[in-house]
Amino acid sequence: MCGIVGYTGGKDCVDIIIDGLKKLEYRGYDSAGIAFEEDKGIDILKAVGRVDNLEKLVRAGKVKSHCAIAHTRWATHGKPSVLNSHPHCDCKGEVAIVHNGIIENYDELKKELSSKGHKFASETDSEAAAHLIEEELKKQKDFFKAFASAVKKLKGAYALAATYKNAPGVICVAKKQSPLVIGQGKGEYYLASDVPAFLNHTNKAIFLEDGDLAKITCGACEIYNLAGVKQSRKVNVIKWNPATAQKGGYKHFMIKEIFDQPQATKDTISTLPPDIKKAFGITPAAARKIKGLYIVACGTAYHAGLCAKYVIEHFAKLPVEVETASEFKYRSINFQKDWLFIAVSQSGETADTLAALNNAKQAGLKALSICNVVGSTITRASDYTVYTHCGPEISVASTKAFTSQLAVLYSFALNIAKEQGSLAKTAFDKLYKEFKNLPSLIEQTLKDAQQIKKLAKAVYKSNSYIFLGRNAAFPIALEGALKLKEISYLHAEGFAGGEIKHGPIAIIDKGMPVVALAPKGELYEKMLSSCQEVGARGAKLITVTNTPLKGAVEVPYTNEYLFPILAVVPLQLLAYYVSDLRGREIDRPRNLAKSVTVE
Ligand code: G6P
Repeated sequence: MCGIVGYTGGKDCVDIIIDGLKKLEYRGYDSAGIAFEEDKGIDILKAVGRVDNLEKLVRAGKVKSHCAIAHTRWATHGKPSVLNSHPHCDCKGEVAIVHNGIIENYDELKKELSSKGHKFASETDSEAAAHLIEEELKKQKDFFKAFASAVKKLKGAYALAATYKNAPGVICVAKKQSPLVIGQGKGEYYLASDVPAFLNHTNKAIFLEDGDLAKITCGACEIYNLAGVKQSRKVNVIKWNPATAQKGGYKHFMIKEIFDQPQATKDTISTLPPDIKKAFGITPAAARKIKGLYIVACGTAYHAGLCAKYVIEHFAKLPVEVETASEFKYRSINFQKDWLFIAVSQSGETADTLAALNNAKQAGLKALSICNVVGSTITRASDYTVYTHCGPEISVASTKAFTSQLAVLYSFALNIAKEQGSLAKTAFDKLYKEFKNLPSLIEQTLKDAQQIKKLAKAVYKSNSYIFLGRNAAFPIALEGALKLKEISYLHAEGFAGGEIKHGPIAIIDKGMPVVALAPKGELYEKMLSSCQEVGARGAKLITVTNTPLKGAVEVPYTNEYLFPILAVVPLQLLAYYVSDLRGREIDRPRNLAKSVTVE
């Protein structure tokens, strides 16, 4: 996730652009840059870190401009650095582009363009778009037409904006799968990844649709589809209050991030082809030599690891040890040299996880990290890194990073199972197809948010909550309980369904909410009997399943190892609504920090 801002019109737009970038910092803040038109052509300023750093350069340079595009970055391809930050240029510095999304065929494009003599300055996927436009401009003088031809060659997701020295005052944009909205002023247009970037200047917004291309000048905004047919798009009047607009109109970042999950998993899955080398950097030969896995993490990321244990053991038949990093690092482990170490961490900075990783590295193990922050310490200490592509997660309680971690680990499980010969090609293909559909299944699951809100209203006065799950859904019971305690400060515990009768059932009281995860499958009946056991003691049961069951919360049907990624969504919502009804400080719960960098 990154943020894009642009302006063309009669005003000096420097303040507009800087203010817009600051409003979009929730989408990324590892570096920022601006391309502004001035008399001689296009000038570019870039700075690593927050937009404040860019602002200092802009102020020092006394920049003035009437047409500019700018970007605040959340690195995906290439570490945060001045060279990798946007805008990117063609070879002559005449075309400048900013991009949000992932250009999936950038490798091919880069090879093809390099063979034609193009020189690339960055490690990003985005830069290919600038050179592609330059190449098309050789065939076609008209900037918009050349831009459109270039866009047709892009695969993947993009919100793309470009300016060209020889077309002053013109901004060309294109949208597919990444958000892009145009703000309409009087004799001026704005463009942004999200409305808050221009809401102080205009509340008239045109939301582009996938496949739209637009040519924006101070006096007009013409929209076309990829076939060149003119499109008409409604001008919406936005009634949001600018103060809450950054949260996309949601009350808290947490609920926004819960609803971000279809996009976050989609962006993550788009980088995970069914090929272990391409997705994880591990060669098939190396994958076949792996005899087992240590998965180490903290908090929510630990639950993702624990869930992966069930999935990997089931599909790949490999032994998996999962532990919280704060325990793992103090154990006297006789490390198995042919086991792979996996660290899971949203921030990539958690001190306990890093210490455990260093222990494993010292023992001579290879390490794979699954992180959300590009270039973070844990990624630098690892042999292989796979990123979740969630954009910044602002709320302390992790939601979208968790489902994306699960997606990466699920893909890993299937890929390693294939390489180890424990999953036949046909079964692998079928499972991978189902996996690719996950974002739309999450979207479907989110449609039941109102049902969960009602359930929350029925239980929020309780001071104690129990979550039950078995097999791969057991870690989700732990995660449901963790989410609730983190943000509501109420007592919540997760148990394995079969374990409840060995002690915990003693605490079940009349009216105590018990959330039971019961996917259709081998353990469905067993889980229903655990439900009976607690129901008979007066518990208020909330069942989450994937098959029709009276009164239950139903998520879409999938194989039972994909169920956890869907089942956690109603649990996140339940935690959110209970805490909101309790009036808690949801995004910044007491005593917690987003990133714990001390051991
Ligand atoms: C802290 C946060 C948790 C998070 C854990 C691991 O305890 O409060 O929400 O799950 O750290 O963070 P990481 O960045 O390593 O995933």
